[in-house]
Amino acid sequence: FLIDKGNYRHFMAKEIHEQPEVVARTLAHYLDMSSGRAALPFDLPVDVAKLSRLTICGCGTAYIAGLMGKYWFERFARLPVDIEIASEFRYRDPPLEPGGLTLLISQSGETADTLASLRCAKEHGQKVLSVVNVATSTIARESDIAALTLAGPEIGVASTKAFTCQLAVLACLALAIGRARGALDDAAEAKVVAELMALPGLIAEALACESRVESLAREIAKVHNVLYLGRGTSYPLALEGALKLKEISYIHAEGYAAGELKHGPIALIDEDMPVIVIAPRDAVIEKTISNMQEVAARGGRLILIGDSALARDFAAEAEAAIVMGDIAPDFSAMVYAVPIQLIAYHTAVVMGKDADQPRNLAKSVTVE
Ligand code: G6P
Repeated sequence: FLIDKGNYRHFMAKEIHEQPEVVARTLAHYLDMSSGRAALPFDLPVDVAKLSRLTICGCGTAYIAGLMGKYWFERFARLPVDIEIASEFRYRDPPLEPGGLTLLISQSGETADTLASLRCAKEHGQKVLSVVNVATSTIARESDIAALTLAGPEIGVASTKAFTCQLAVLACLALAIGRARGALDDAAEAKVVAELMALPGLIAEALACESRVESLAREIAKVHNVLYLGRGTSYPLALEGALKLKEISYIHAEGYAAGELKHGPIALIDEDMPVIVIAPRDAVIEKTISNMQEVAARGGRLILIGDSALARDFAAEAEAAIVMGDIAPDFSAMVYAVPIQLIAYHTAVVMGKDADQPRNLAKSVTVE
């Protein structure tokens, strides 16, 4: 990787566009394409068939990747997951079983709270697996096993390609652990591996929404608050969308599980507030649609990210629609991440903010 911006205005734009390539490379490291199976390049440090739970820890975007991973570990490996914000975990004296497994996620491998969580887990007799982007980092060195994301150097402060590569590794880990636990048979695994292998191409296609996102960003740049909604794996992606937007455009944004709309944020909805609904065609799409109707009925500014049929159905109600292709529901969030990242990026650009170096934020937070 050459550390320059190439033809891009910002590293963040370059890194968003690198995702088809780096996600493909990362998947190739953890999948055996010919047999259609997950193939980890290491032995896991515990017998996962006997594992009663998995603790996942991280900060910022890495935490959000872990939250999405929870859905996959539960679904493919039937493994209970505790997902923890590292700065909470390290001070809570959590009851951890000796011989259990803690999974740390960190792009830099140097985040102080995540590193402290690693040491805390070890003190409790846990084995430690980390998903890291920097092979020589402290977290990588202190882990029993470091599972590398092959994203290459990430320069933009707001994480983009490291996030989707973290998701790729987590999905592969969930498959490998699912097989070891007897939760996934060969045919099911082959089907999921094929779905994963299709992702780089789908991510490349999703980048075509950029000009549509640019015009949407000109509208978002005028507001003070944005709400993101999603269900299932689109819920962590809603958190990530809100985090990205506030990090680099300084617009206040919140991500919510769509089902929680009626428990609070619905009170905020008016003609000034864009509500970005992440609505892939998955098992809960009908529920998400009823949330979209609730937003529209209250005069909210509905912006949807979904397939062409959904965009057609909401042509009258939605102020804007970002149309995505057909994607296997379990992994739609890895593709829908592209418009989510581009919305934040282009809004920051329209507002004249430095997307690569947002105020007050550091790429790697090595002190508390
Ligand atoms: C900082 C960065 C974020 C990142 C977080 C965790 O807040 O600005 O982009 O997600 O740290 O960093 P890590 O290197 O541990 O993934």
